[in-house]
Order: sequence, then structure tokens, then C-alpha cells
Amino acid sequence: MRIVLGVAGGIAAYKAAALCSTLVQRGDEVDVVMTDGAERFVGALTFAALTRRPVLTSLWDAPDTIPHIALARSAGVIAIVPATANVVAKLALGIADDLLTNVALAARVPLVVAPAMNSAMYEHPATRGHLETLRARGVTIVEPGVGFLAERETGIGRLADADAIVAAIDAAGARANDLAGERVVVTAGPTREAIDPARYLSNASTGTMGIELAREAVARGADVDLVLGPTTVEPPAGARVTRVVSADDMYAATMTRAAHATFALAAAAVADWRPAEPSAEKRKKHDGDESLALVRTPDILAALGARKNGTFLVGFAAETQDAEAYGREKLQRKHLDAIAVNDVSGERGFGTGDNSLVVLWGADGRRDLGTASKRELAARLWDALLDVRAKRV
Ligand SMILES: Cc1cc2nc3c(=O)[nH]c(=O)nc-3n(C[C@H](O)[C@H](O)[C@H](O)COP(=O)(O)O)c2cc1C
Repeated sequence: MRIVLGVAGGIAAYKAAALCSTLVQRGDEVDVVMTDGAERFVGALTFAALTRRPVLTSLWDAPDTIPHIALARSAGVIAIVPATANVVAKLALGIADDLLTNVALAARVPLVVAPAMNSAMYEHPATRGHLETLRARGVTIVEPGVGFLAERETGIGRLADADAIVAAIDAAGARANDLAGERVVVTAGPTREAIDPARYLSNASTGTMGIELAREAVARGADVDLVLGPTTVEPPAGARVTRVVSADDMYAATMTRAAHATFALAAAAVADWRPAEPSAEKRKKHDGDESLALVRTPDILAALGARKNGTFLVGFAAETQDAEAYGREKLQRKHLDAIAVNDVSGERGFGTGDNSLVVLWGADGRRDLGTASKRELAARLWDALLDVRAKRV
């Protein structure tokens, strides 16, 4: 793999030399870019000797090759180890005032960032916010660990272990383009079923899982349509987003978009019922019977299952009891190729950061994706879906 290894000016810069050596020994081509700060901690000569390649430190040294663009285009992955609070902030804001930040801004390849800093700097709301921005953009953050810091105190901020950083680089590199050529449709979010102009029936879905699946698919090279119910969670850049409100709208938008899809992932929490006769005026309170007549909404997943034309169809089951048994039954009944089941009892599931998923397919296929952030689970789910499809063909 061709890796651009960015080294910033933190005390952990010396550890980047060992990481660089590991990557070179296993056959990666590594171009090291150092910030001015990094050069105060480690000599460029160390990296030049390890990589047998020139170490790049300045934006201004080689105008004939425009180094930041050339490097950004040549790399499979860019890894910044260690990333200082300063570099994290610049990446989040799109500031490009040295070679490393220019390369990162010009690149369209996966970015892996391993921050290392003093606990107070790491926990500062500015740094937390910048890391969150980067995560939301699809950057892999290799979280620092707790340990003995240069300030001779123990705290969070110590550079992650080399194994974790290498694993993150590999995962980012392997996933970079494995959905190229795929046409993916994802539904996400809740739907709203109008009772009257001011009120509706809905559910607790935030759409985060589907949005993360769409984001991951974009990052891995797919052409992505996201059919998104009402949510304040931001959809990913790079997906075509169709905003819908009701189950009827979602049905119409999804069926047209799924006709030529290679993958359809129905992650939306579509309302099962809608008021039979939504009122054009705001309903008034009455004495006596106030019950609301409901009718079933269209079953998008069943319709996709009935009409699929080579599309790999994935359903979701969020259940509070017997989740897997129900998921297996839904898989068969709706002619799905796979189903992702999660238990939404207790704290897990809707809206919370972490989630747990189990994927089921065929008569007895099962893979537990564990408990992780929805972003990480989205990556693991795509890995699983590609494996299941590859085995089936
Ligand atoms: C001894 C020393 C150690 C430092 N260690 C860190 C560190 O571990 N992480 C960090 O974010 N900044 C650290 N800094 C501050 C950065 O060097 C400073 O913010 C610098 O501007 C970073 O430049 P760069 O991000 O362009 O490399 C340290 C500074 C000194 C003097």
C-alpha cells in the first residue's frame, strides 16, 4: 500500500518512527510528511533512512511537482501519527498552511488520524468538537489511550498502540474502493403520518444507522441514493438525498430508486399505520369517543422483496423481545438476502451513540457484529454484506 505518513509536533513523534519502520518492513511504500513542529522532536533523517525516500517538510520546495497534489493523488491512505491538537483543529476547519494540511485537504483518499496530547488539550471542548467533525466526515480517529503522559501524570491522550493504528490503516485501505461500481439505495429515519396539520404519528428513530451506512458506502466508492425521513441528523456529502415525510412518500421514492440498485438497505423506521382520515384542519377536543382510526401504510420492504431484480436486499429489525427469532422469520417472509437485527430494549438502539447488531442470512447464516458506534457498525455491516454476497455467487 502507498501510505502518506504525516507526523506532527507532539512528544509522541518518536513513536511514528517505529510505526514507519513496521510499515516499511511489511512492504508498504511510505512517504513521510513532517510539520515544522515535528522536526523539533525528531529529525527528518530518521524517516528518510527508514523509508529510503525523501522526507517532505515544506510546501515551497518543489513547485515543479506541486507536492501536495502529487502526494494526495498517489496515496492509498493518509495517516497522521501523532496528530496534535493543532493539526486536528486545522483538519476540521480546512486550514491549509503547511504541506501536511494541504495534502490532507487535497486528498480524496481515506484519512486516519491518531491524536496524542495532554489530557486537558484532548478533553477541551474545542478538540472534542473538532474530532467529532472529522468523524462525521468519515475520518478514522484512532482514539488515544489512558497512560503515563510526558507531563509525568496519568491520563487520556497517550498515542494509541501501533497495532491499533496499523489495523486502522489497513481497514481504511481495504475498504477504500470495495463498493466501486455498486448502486446503493438506503432508506433512513422515521416517517411522519399526519393526524392534522399540527400533529403526526412517528417514532423514535433518528436515522443515524442508515445515514452511517450511506456515508460508508460513499466512502467505499458506491453511487448512493439516500431516501431520508424527517431528522435533524446531517446526511453525508456525496450521497444523493431525497427528503420524504410520510410512509407513502418514502414508498414512492424508494421504489423508483431501487429499480436498478445492486444493494437496497431498508434501514428506515417506517410507520406501520397512519391515520385513516387526516384532518385538513386542526382537530378540536370533543367529549366522548376520541379514538383515531388507523390504516396500514405500504410495506416498502415486502414490495422491494417481491420486485427485486438482482438487487441484494437488506432489512432491519429493531425489536424489544426475541429479536433474532423475529428477524429470521422476517428474512424469510419478505424474501430478504440479509437482515440486521438489533435489540432496542433498554438503553440501546434509537438515537444512542452505540448499538449492537447481528446479521442473519439464508437458513442459518449468522454474524454477530458486536457493540460499537453506529459508524463502526456500518463499516462492519458492509464487510459482512459483501462477504455474504460473494459466498452466494
Ligand atoms: C515539549 C512539547 C511537547 C508537546 N507535545 C504535544 C503533544 O503531545 N500533542 C500536541 O497536540 N501538542 C503538543 N505540543 C504543542 C505543539 O508542539 C504545538 O501546538 C505546535 O504548534 C504543533 O505544531 P504542528 O501541529 O504543526 O505539528 C508540545 C509542545 C512542546 C513544547
